Amino acid sequence: MNSFRAFRVHADKSGVSAGVEELTLADLTPGEVVVKGEWSSINYKDALAATGAGRILRTSPLVGGVDIAGTVISSEDPDIAVGQRVLMNGGGLSEVRDGGFTEVASLPAGGPIPIPDELSSRDAMLIGTAGFTAAYAIHRMELNGQRPANGPIAVTGATGGVGSVAIDMLAGLGYSVMAMSTKPEQADYLKSLGASEVLDLKEFDFGKRPMEKGLWSGAIDNLGGETLAGLIRNASPNANIAAIGLAQGFEVNTTVMPFILRGVNLLGINSVDVPRELRVAIWQRIATDLRPRHLALMESAALTLDTLMPAFQPYVDGKITGRTLVRLS
Ligand SMILES: NC(=O)c1ccc[n+]([C@@H]2O[C@H](COP(=O)([O-])OP(=O)(O)OC[C@H]3O[C@@H](n4cnc5c(N)ncnc54)[C@H](OP(=O)(O)O)[C@@H]3O)[C@@H](O)[C@H]2O)c1
Repeated sequence: MNSFRAFRVHADKSGVSAGVEELTLADLTPGEVVVKGEWSSINYKDALAATGAGRILRTSPLVGGVDIAGTVISSEDPDIAVGQRVLMNGGGLSEVRDGGFTEVASLPAGGPIPIPDELSSRDAMLIGTAGFTAAYAIHRMELNGQRPANGPIAVTGATGGVGSVAIDMLAGLGYSVMAMSTKPEQADYLKSLGASEVLDLKEFDFGKRPMEKGLWSGAIDNLGGETLAGLIRNASPNANIAAIGLAQGFEVNTTVMPFILRGVNLLGINSVDVPRELRVAIWQRIATDLRPRHLALMESAALTLDTLMPAFQPYVDGKITGRTLVRLS
């Protein structure tokens, strides 16, 4: 096969460097499914990897990007046919194997799944890992008894990818959503997605007592640290708190009181290693009952491999709003 272009990250003791390189299939992690890349997207983890702000690559060099959508060129996976539209999110992309920022990808059997007929490849990547993670969190909360009648859901990191899609999905299901953001100037955007209330995270007082007022019946948290601790203290009885991210910190200071006196549930969400059958089911929900209704509002930019690099630092700094698409071909 001819050469193709990919955005590759090199991470070693001397530091991190990244950029577009000309590769051949022999340069990629071996895989059973070869895909012509069409769309990808930027997720927080991609920014950590490419800037070196976080240690994401477990081997180097690797093509960056935890998401990819495209068309199958060749397949030794009995579940995936040549010519099929497929996507892969997580599953070790850009962590232990070459990722999705590439014109041609080599993917493992069992990794890629068919894109639901209801979704274009572009929309699938506008949703991407961020939206998949939001959907998976909502799915887990519902399995645990979450219903709109239980009361409002707080969403932190609200203007980011996971936050934006979560608000849209929750509002679509009939939940009342309290969006918590460090960008109060984005209140109109958050309300357009479906938030019923927008709270300025920098000003918000979570209180100090082991248990405060029961303000929300659930939460989707992208920040960790003090914010996650505050969400737990202020949860109402039997609330479900989905811990997704660590944009603010990886430590959580809490007591057992909300858990043993209010029955609060802390649900850990790991979107990377979800079994294939469940991934297919979650993407089918994303295409139907969880389908985000305001994707166009979330789309902040559509980049190419050549314009990717400058886009990463604003992610690390928490400055972006919505989702960034990457056109691969
Ligand atoms: N567990 C999983 O499987 C999984 C999957 C996907 C993502 N994640 C994690 O979830 C988090 C959100 O991911 P994402 O893709 O939505 O990221 P993103 O698009 O970069 O959004 C992150 C948002 O967090 C808020 N934020 C507040 N303080 C921040 C800080 N110090 N640094 C950066 N952001 C800050 C900002 O929103 P406001 O200004 O509105 O507050 C920012 O827009 C990340 O930590 C990511 O690693 C985990």
